[in-house]
Amino acid sequence: MNNLQATGKDWWRAAAAGIPHLITETPGPRSKQMHANTAKYMKGLSSQVKLFPVCFEEGSGITLTDVDGNKYLDFSSGIYVTSLGHCHPKISEAIAYWAGKLMNAHDFTTPVKEKLMEKMASILPGKLNAVQLYSDGTTAVEAAIRAARAISNKHEFISAYRDFHGKSMSAVSCAQMYRSETFSYGPSRAPGFYMVPRPDPYRPLWEKADGTIDTDAYIRFYENFIKEGTVGNVAAFVLEPAQGWAGSIFPPDDFFPKLKTLCEKHDILLYDDEVLAGMGRTGEWLTLNHWGVIPDIVTFGKSFGNGFPVTAMVVSEENGEALEKISASSSYGGNPMACAAALASIEVIEEENLLEHVKTVGAFFMKRMEQMKSDHPIIGDVKGKGFLLGIELVKDKKTKEPFPEAGVAVYQKAFRKGLAWIPAGHILRMSPPLIMDEKYAAMGMNIIEDAITETEKEFGYR
Ligand SMILES: Cc1ncc(COP(=O)(O)O)c(C=O)c1O
Repeated sequence: MNNLQATGKDWWRAAAAGIPHLITETPGPRSKQMHANTAKYMKGLSSQVKLFPVCFEEGSGITLTDVDGNKYLDFSSGIYVTSLGHCHPKISEAIAYWAGKLMNAHDFTTPVKEKLMEKMASILPGKLNAVQLYSDGTTAVEAAIRAARAISNKHEFISAYRDFHGKSMSAVSCAQMYRSETFSYGPSRAPGFYMVPRPDPYRPLWEKADGTIDTDAYIRFYENFIKEGTVGNVAAFVLEPAQGWAGSIFPPDDFFPKLKTLCEKHDILLYDDEVLAGMGRTGEWLTLNHWGVIPDIVTFGKSFGNGFPVTAMVVSEENGEALEKISASSSYGGNPMACAAALASIEVIEEENLLEHVKTVGAFFMKRMEQMKSDHPIIGDVKGKGFLLGIELVKDKKTKEPFPEAGVAVYQKAFRKGLAWIPAGHILRMSPPLIMDEKYAAMGMNIIEDAITETEKEFGYR
């Protein structure tokens, strides 16, 4: 059935009946052939694809179908993108309507843009209501960096180890560098961009006497760093609210409130990059909502248009004027199809009460993962909020030595059993569609647990 014919909250269930359903070995023969034909020309593929070269042809809700007819349970949402399910009928219809009516009018107002602006202002906290729209996360991040300079009249930026913000010059400068890239053609962090450690509760750099992570020590270090390591011209802290690419790493609850206080003390903006974690993935519109912190700048992407390329950069009302100074618009940003996708996505989250649903099923995920941690010698840590989840694999629970070989093995084994997902390192990253219920959540975790058990046997842990 075409998704556009489906209606109601349960539109995705018919496609999901009987998944995973595998009729060939996976990747199957057609997948292998098509991938080989494509990879002759297409270079720079991600490790996930190289490790499991499947070729998908259809997506409906939580189900992905490959060209050999195999059906997979989706634990990836593309890459944190199709969060409301592949081809949600309301969203696909909204895009199709504008695809047949008006595709681009540069940054002139359109009826659907008017509605999106009003909707965004209604869901965002505080006075976060000065908006510009883009077509990928990286461009929104670049714009946010320029906006931070324009707002503060300062030029330095502090980000954190293992954060990720995209692949353009400023975005890369706020992120972990790819070693192979920097080895091959030299240093690539722009001047004025600095990195500091941020708290990872499983691997704390500074601990209190009771062994728990010492947030205050991080904040003290930042204060010292601002004084000694910068020229006193710091425009913004640039941080993911929770580190996605690094492995679903959430800071302790007191981190962002304390960081915000530090920022206010030094007149530094807090830029919260919610491209991956925002728009409901952790059960709030902004992940920072969990800690009652309102940032000065925020970016959205990925889930924002549920697969349609639309992203946003938002600053607070009093700083809206700065967007006039940076020539903020772009060719595709805010086109009618993009606005329709973003508006329909927000409406779906509201209409289907998904923020609450994500919190409930998220608690189920955490409980299930805690159980797995106590049952498995190679699971060092489990982490997450809502549907942004991670399982950290280690060689030894005491030394916490990362176990990337096991990560690869678990990834491939689970995929072969019919779970489409995204990890490729020692932290298994899960990003299921937010519409998923406990039945399918349990199904996916069972597949992962089976793959972990087999991997433990293979590496002599059982
Ligand atoms: C936190 C964060 N910011 C920015 C980006 C860049 O987004 P895009 O890939 O759409 O350019 C990403 C992509 O993964 C991200 O995770």
